[in-house]
Amino acid sequence: MTSLKIDNLTKQFGNVNILSSINISIDDGDFLVLVGPSGCGKSTLLNIVAGLEPLSGGSITVDGRSIQNLEPKERDIAMVFQSYALYPSMTVEKNMAFPLRMRGKSPQEQTAKVAEVAELLQIGHLLNRKPQQLSGGQRQRVAMGRALVRDPKIFLFDEPLSNLDAKLRVDMRTEIKRLHQRVKKTTIYVTHDQVEAMTMATRIAVMKDGKVQQFGTPSDIYDQPANTFVATFMGSPSMNLLPATAQPSGGALQLQIDGTDIVVPLPAKSGTAAPVQAGQSLLFGLRPEWFLRSDSLPDSHFGLRAAVDVLEPTGPDLYAALRIGPHEVMARLSADAPVAVGAAVDFGVDLGKALVFDRDSGVRVH
Ligand SMILES: Nc1ncnc2c1ncn2[C@@H]1O[C@H](COP(=O)(O)OP(=O)(O)O)[C@@H](O)[C@H]1O
Ligand SMILES: [Mg+2]
Repeated sequence: MTSLKIDNLTKQFGNVNILSSINISIDDGDFLVLVGPSGCGKSTLLNIVAGLEPLSGGSITVDGRSIQNLEPKERDIAMVFQSYALYPSMTVEKNMAFPLRMRGKSPQEQTAKVAEVAELLQIGHLLNRKPQQLSGGQRQRVAMGRALVRDPKIFLFDEPLSNLDAKLRVDMRTEIKRLHQRVKKTTIYVTHDQVEAMTMATRIAVMKDGKVQQFGTPSDIYDQPANTFVATFMGSPSMNLLPATAQPSGGALQLQIDGTDIVVPLPAKSGTAAPVQAGQSLLFGLRPEWFLRSDSLPDSHFGLRAAVDVLEPTGPDLYAALRIGPHEVMARLSADAPVAVGAAVDFGVDLGKALVFDRDSGVRVH
């Protein structure tokens, strides 16, 4: 059982705040992904958990016990770096056995454990090679193997796939997820790639400027984003945000889309974040895949007339750049959707999913 709790953690380099009151709590077997743009503090937070960097305030506990004053080697945490950090002069077997040798394990124990992990990662046939005789994906596997042989309580990964080409990155993503399903080790994984975050995580912390913008399950983050940063960072193409003005009437909320005569009535939503005032400046959030183009729209869908500017077939989908009044939006339609460039067409959007944000603060209000 390995749970991890980060409480009110802060970090300064000199007098610059790098991390501000970070609160994250994960359970045994969770796969936490820290995701955010470059420079937001992901590696710093991971290095603090590993003990490679001291924290400035707050606490980190593993299974209820404080670890922040322990040396890295006393923490029982293994880290896989982006650069792999393999020893070039050692064989794969020696590289993988290294942490066991450092801990004084017998040669028999080293050989047995390396063989077991090599089988798990399907690199048994590579044990006598040196790192320069391996492909990028194979090196990545050896680096993971070296972390696995120790049987640590927690696994840390810092952008482990960013040196691989696109195809291999997708394969290794599946492989790491499969590995996690088998060994169920509590894991913290850092990436700037929102697709890796969505596909791999059981919990996601979206970070920006040293702050956690939202912490939750992938579906919390995607369906109920806390603010416009999270809403637009997660998902591709990005969520559309249409400027709109509030017209609340008798408990219900209506939006007038700015620069148009379109008025959108929004169904009441549970867990609505903040009350909306009449005249308040808002942003109406619509994910590209919520647009539907069909000759018979379901009743649940609100009809929006739009002019089709550009069509981009991707194979499985058809991306359509649309104009709604003065606004540009992106829709993700099925490949065979009946649309043509230049025409004004009626689209349907599922208002049960639509989101509304305050335009000044970016905070979600509906
Ligand atoms: N040793 C350091 N001294 C001073 N500033 C640092 C140091 N390490 C990182 N930083 C700064 O901290 C911020 C977060 O960096 P980092 O954690 O590497 O971000 P990320 O991994 O999200 O790209 C950046 O602004 C970076 O310049
Ligand atoms: Mg980093």
